[in-house]
Amino acid sequence: MSFTVAIDGPAAAGKGTISRAVAAHFAFGHLDTGLLYRAVGAHTLDGTPAVEAAQALVAEDLESDALRTPAVAQAASKVAAIPQVRAALIDFQRAFARRAGGAVLDGRDIGTVICPEAEVKLYVTASAEVRAERRYLELEAKGLLVSREQVLADVRERDARDMGRSDAPLKPAEDAVIIDTSDMSIEAAVARAVAVIEARRD
Ligand code: CDP
Repeated sequence: MSFTVAIDGPAAAGKGTISRAVAAHFAFGHLDTGLLYRAVGAHTLDGTPAVEAAQALVAEDLESDALRTPAVAQAASKVAAIPQVRAALIDFQRAFARRAGGAVLDGRDIGTVICPEAEVKLYVTASAEVRAERRYLELEAKGLLVSREQVLADVRERDARDMGRSDAPLKPAEDAVIIDTSDMSIEAAVARAVAVIEARRD
């Protein structure tokens, strides 16, 4: 039996942490779909055309630590606005969503485009300032030299591009449950997500 949890939201809202915790809690598979776009973006920084990179993507491309840098995040959001790039990545995501035993997919368009039939749809968000501060601390912990101002500017620029594009713009699905984590601990946000999923499973 398949059971799909779609988790969407803007940059650094806490989707990744919540998705990993929820997947572990229910023993579901987890796909961070942002990594697909980051991997394509990373290939374009090396000179490969975006559509070609998306069509040739392989699992090993998703494993590099270098995908977490701000430069790759910006490249990801640029290639993500190209319809042929998005189209090349659809089948893989839908197949993952239907895997036996349940799946959590996090991204921008999972509840709206990739899995409109998902059993649970969550939209995880927080103020731009809170998200930028979290991302700043993550990057700092990895030893990447960035300023708070630059991280906030990057987050805002990426949000605007992700929400403003014509193909699969970032927005909550009509039936999504909104979780605003601005004033929530990560434990509280995970508990809320688990409660929504449990209610839907019963
Ligand atoms: O971790 P963070 O929230 O900063 O970003 P991400 O989830 O790794 O996504 C990187 C970029 O990929 C986003 O800014 C989007 O432009 C794009 N993306 C998308 O268009 N659709 C998805 N399902 C996932 C990511």
